[in-house]
Amino acid sequence: MSVTTAVQVDLAAIRHNVASLRESAGDAGLMAVVKADGYGHGIIPAARAAVAGGASWLGVATLDEARNLRRAGIDVPLLCWLYAPGERFDDVIAAGVDLSAASAGQVAEITQAAGRAGRPVRLHLKADTGLSRGGATPGDWPALVDAALRAQAEGLATVVGLWSHFACADEPGHPSIPAQLGVFDDAVELAEKAGVRPEVRHISNSAATLTLPEARYDLVRPGIAVYGLDPIPALGPARRLGLRPAMTLTGRLALVKRVGAGAGVSYGHRYTTAAETTLGLVPLGYADGIPRLGTNLLQVQAAGKRRRIAGTVCMDQFVIDVGDDAVEAGDEVILFGPGDQGEPTAQDWAEMLGTISYEIVTRIGARIPRTYGGETE
Ligand SMILES: Cc1ncc(COP(=O)(O)O)c(C=O)c1O
Repeated sequence: MSVTTAVQVDLAAIRHNVASLRESAGDAGLMAVVKADGYGHGIIPAARAAVAGGASWLGVATLDEARNLRRAGIDVPLLCWLYAPGERFDDVIAAGVDLSAASAGQVAEITQAAGRAGRPVRLHLKADTGLSRGGATPGDWPALVDAALRAQAEGLATVVGLWSHFACADEPGHPSIPAQLGVFDDAVELAEKAGVRPEVRHISNSAATLTLPEARYDLVRPGIAVYGLDPIPALGPARRLGLRPAMTLTGRLALVKRVGAGAGVSYGHRYTTAAETTLGLVPLGYADGIPRLGTNLLQVQAAGKRRRIAGTVCMDQFVIDVGDDAVEAGDEVILFGPGDQGEPTAQDWAEMLGTISYEIVTRIGARIPRTYGGETE
């Protein structure tokens, strides 16, 4: 391998994970969530691999993500759900992208665009069942349903979906889970009584897909598990659930040198060598998504062993102390990966930092080239 740094993405792992999640989903369809550049894995290759693995839908947050998928010729059903007033919807409606609506005002804006696009928009009405983030509250739900049905009667919309999102599905047994399901069922019942005939009702993220058969409805919407990362850390590593992490982040040592005892290392001298030792320079920094909070904390794998980052993580680089072990400039360092060779996983990094693996993989920067293996034949 000649590159200095790389995000290696195992597309076979994504295909495998989707196929395995489909088994967990029973008769429900599967929408693979590929927002945030496919959780950092590259939206187009991740989307293609997910579809090859059996995803019948794709889900994204932003209109540009939806445009990007359609421009790449990916034409499976696609739901997009996050935008503010004043955005341009006409072209995405013309491209057959399904849109979420959470208020009567949003229905009005989107259906006006559908009029201009000359095509009815496929709408998914979003219920806030207790996350208090997106979606219409139970109080606002009847007005949303009414606005959507009026737009449907005018030929500007087809209401195809009723949906919501869990707050605590990653904490099995959390009382909010049945409470949200109850509110969702009420919202579905109200909409259906008013005349909505949804193609799909959906609420389940990865954690719910794996643990809540009663929440599958017609479609599940996993994201993190598609990439093989732990949806419910309390249940143990994702590999125990049959999932395979798809991303490996590597860098090659840019420089290796011997220094004496007592050398202050990196900005602020937050690390000092205890004895004469070998330092290795890893050409990745916080501009690449290596958290600066990982200073003297995060572990990486070099020369077959885990090593803690020595001193401050800089913008483009950090240092490791390998003692008297034999390393050379150009040797590979694995920052995180599936864990097969004893290297840390993104979940390990998340736990060391007090965050979630989602944040680790989605923040790996654009300047690191993505390389792909395990392509579909
Ligand atoms: C609306 C929505 N659905 C589904 C998902 C997928 O969730 P997860 O990655 O936990 O499976 C997300 C991700 O945050 C989301 O925002």
